[in-house]
Amino acid sequence: MKKTRVIEPVCFDKTIEAINHASVHHLKLRSGRMMPAAAFGTFHSDWAQDYMKDATLEAIRLGWRHIDTARAYENEDVVGEAIREAIKKGYISSAEDMFITGKLWNGHMSPKDVAPALNNTLKALGVDKINLYLNHWPWPNVHTPGCAGEHRNPDAVPYIHEAFLETWGEIVKLKKSGKIVDIGTSNHTEACLKLLLRDVPKDERPVCNQMEMHPLMQQTALRRYMESEGIVCTGYMSLGSPKRPGRDTFKEHRADLLDPVIQSIAAELGVSPARVALSWAIQRENKSGGFVAMATRSDWIAEYLKAAMEDLLTPEQLLRISGDDSKEHPGIDANNRLIWGQVFLWPEADGDWRVLWDDSQVFETRAAYQKFKKAWREFHKIKLETTYA
Ligand SMILES: NC(=O)c1ccc[n+]([C@@H]2O[C@H](COP(=O)([O-])OP(=O)(O)OC[C@H]3O[C@@H](n4cnc5c(N)ncnc54)[C@H](OP(=O)(O)O)[C@@H]3O)[C@@H](O)[C@H]2O)c1
Repeated sequence: MKKTRVIEPVCFDKTIEAINHASVHHLKLRSGRMMPAAAFGTFHSDWAQDYMKDATLEAIRLGWRHIDTARAYENEDVVGEAIREAIKKGYISSAEDMFITGKLWNGHMSPKDVAPALNNTLKALGVDKINLYLNHWPWPNVHTPGCAGEHRNPDAVPYIHEAFLETWGEIVKLKKSGKIVDIGTSNHTEACLKLLLRDVPKDERPVCNQMEMHPLMQQTALRRYMESEGIVCTGYMSLGSPKRPGRDTFKEHRADLLDPVIQSIAAELGVSPARVALSWAIQRENKSGGFVAMATRSDWIAEYLKAAMEDLLTPEQLLRISGDDSKEHPGIDANNRLIWGQVFLWPEADGDWRVLWDDSQVFETRAAYQKFKKAWREFHKIKLETTYA
């Protein structure tokens, strides 16, 4: 049976006026095409699945024109319904008015599965092409939806470039066929991207990388590297994902919206801490990146889109959040990663989630990984035989 947490009913306030989407900040992708910098997220964090259609429809009514979806969110069909209803209600004139980002799920990265996966996505959304298609994670590791944090898949593997290039090749073919307009990556680290950029022609490079970014997890160096290669970065969990499920919440995590600097800037400006976090996401680094955020209340949905319209933060306030590597301006970045990705860990990561992100286990070929795996097994056998408990 589907598990849905009982929460207070979601109320959409139709008295809140729509925002003129034309004034939303847009980012120029390397392809020359423009992408609205604010994307409405549709990942349901388990409990809000039943509201995603209405929340998406409300977001479109209020002026959001960029929707972030994924096969893994198991709700592309309701996103499609919301788009069709928005057309019926006259909020948009056709699906072409929307910028839709979709993602290839890990379980569909085998070359034969890529085209069918995209076809299913297009069918569920009710569109014949998608504006931006991201490869969701760098490796094909799957977990059962909603599984516990300690779940491990024995078949999980690290990034193997040879295998990734085969998946990417299929994505490129679908772009050439016209079913995808622009292509990108998600959760790609610097080493994975460097290999990809080394091995594909310029017109087959990703135009965007979606990654975790919020005031306490700024990823400035990685973002600057990507931008130096012409890859636009969009940040997910831009509010610090206050309602993520317990399996993704750890005692080390801090709440962005409760950070004293975010709260004091909110008080100075008379806005919510959430608005400060999103204004920072848009204004930082010379307005070169975007955010994905989600809410199921009309006032929040409207307020968050405004973050991509009005530059609210002064340079001094931006500096208090971002810092500049000086003692005087340390900023508030705390490398507070919320997605540890522990359910994706492969055996040789030895249970250490940081291996997913620190590029210490990135392999160019399947043979190189097999060699490493064999040595690792030997080492572990000896370790078990020789070390004290
Ligand atoms: N590429 C990837 O691997 C990846 C990974 C994770 C997420 N994403 C994308 O990023 C999107 C955003 O991620 P997210 O939803 O986890 O994080 P988020 O946007 O940081 O947080 C959204 C949650 O914050 C709550 N919220 C909003 N304003 C609030 C406030 N003022 N006070 C307290 N709570 C507030 C919302 O609650 P209500 O629902 O009650 O309004 C919503 O549940 C996802 O929907 C998905 O599209 C991508």
